[in-house]
Amino acid sequence: MSDEANTENHDARIVIRNLLHLEGSPYELAEDARRGLTSSPKWMPPKYFYDARGSELFERITAQPEYYQTSTELEILQRIAPLIVDRVRPTALIEFGSGSASKTRVLLDEMRRAGQLGAYGMLDVSEAASRAAAVALVATYPRLEVECVIADFEQPQPLPFPGRRRLLAFLGSTIGNFEVEAAQAFLRGPAERMRDDDAFLIGFDLVKDRETIERAYNDAAGVTEAFNRNLLMVLNRELGADFDPSAFDHKAFYNESASRIEMHLVAKRAQSVRVTDLDMTVEFAPGETLRTELSHKYTRRSVEALLEAGNLALDMWETDPDQKFALGLARRR
Ligand code: SAH
Ligand code: AVI
Repeated sequence: MSDEANTENHDARIVIRNLLHLEGSPYELAEDARRGLTSSPKWMPPKYFYDARGSELFERITAQPEYYQTSTELEILQRIAPLIVDRVRPTALIEFGSGSASKTRVLLDEMRRAGQLGAYGMLDVSEAASRAAAVALVATYPRLEVECVIADFEQPQPLPFPGRRRLLAFLGSTIGNFEVEAAQAFLRGPAERMRDDDAFLIGFDLVKDRETIERAYNDAAGVTEAFNRNLLMVLNRELGADFDPSAFDHKAFYNESASRIEMHLVAKRAQSVRVTDLDMTVEFAPGETLRTELSHKYTRRSVEALLEAGNLALDMWETDPDQKFALGLARRR
């Protein structure tokens, strides 16, 4: 495998660097599938949801009335963006798990209004979503420089635009998809690379009543269910597996003692699945589950503890009036 990042530059303002398949990248579907499908209970890391279809399905989830997270975070962001830009005075915005970068525009608009908009760096595993977002962004912001890093953020990466004052962002409560220790380890990466005047804005979905949380992951239109089953299509296409997605039920429930949603695919009947590229057959008993995602929910106190373990400290904390979601602004400790 080459050591060279696959770097492209179509529009002079967009640089795309694909680091996903470099030596040492933790984005290794075959290895992760072998480990996860032979574990008991079975599990898969959620990062493999996001092929082009998975990214589109996630966008559709954000428009479902039950999925309060996106609209609530947007509302907070619109209210506090002027405050954040005034406090940090960034000339570059660097976003982890940027996806379609729709909410990001609130921050970019505010940076433009303040005459400070220079550069945007995005880091995401989804090449399709990142390309589409970059092209749309340079059309809206004619003087914006965009660097797209297609990479797994589980591996610490150098932060783009080191010469500028940077606002880092990790929106959507995607941090909640890590296991607790992995979230701490993730934060230590940016914390080590930030300068003292950089800041990190992070979205957190808050602990609340079970019904509201569970509804968000069991929308009536069945989009989350389709998103969940899409993982099996990724395994079929990428590893020559023969999962029948219709033979699995979607299940998402709130585990209150761990403050997290657990999303699973449940085998409707006994089945043997062949995974050709792994030369392996995976047996499912009726009712056996494959865990596909964790989504942790937070309190201000759990966020402070998480940030401390990640070598960061909370500088600002803003929620919506119903305390459904929060944005925390963190600095290096
Ligand atoms: N920030 C957007 C999108 C959130 S969806 C929002 O708030 O709506 C989660 C995003 O993180 C997806 O775009 C997905 O491709 C990306 N992602 C998930 N796991 C990742 C990983 N390990 N490394 C890099 N990107 C990842
Ligand atoms: C990206 N992430 C924060 C979403 C979440 O809520 O955990 C992914 C998602 N899974 C099901 N619905 C949305």
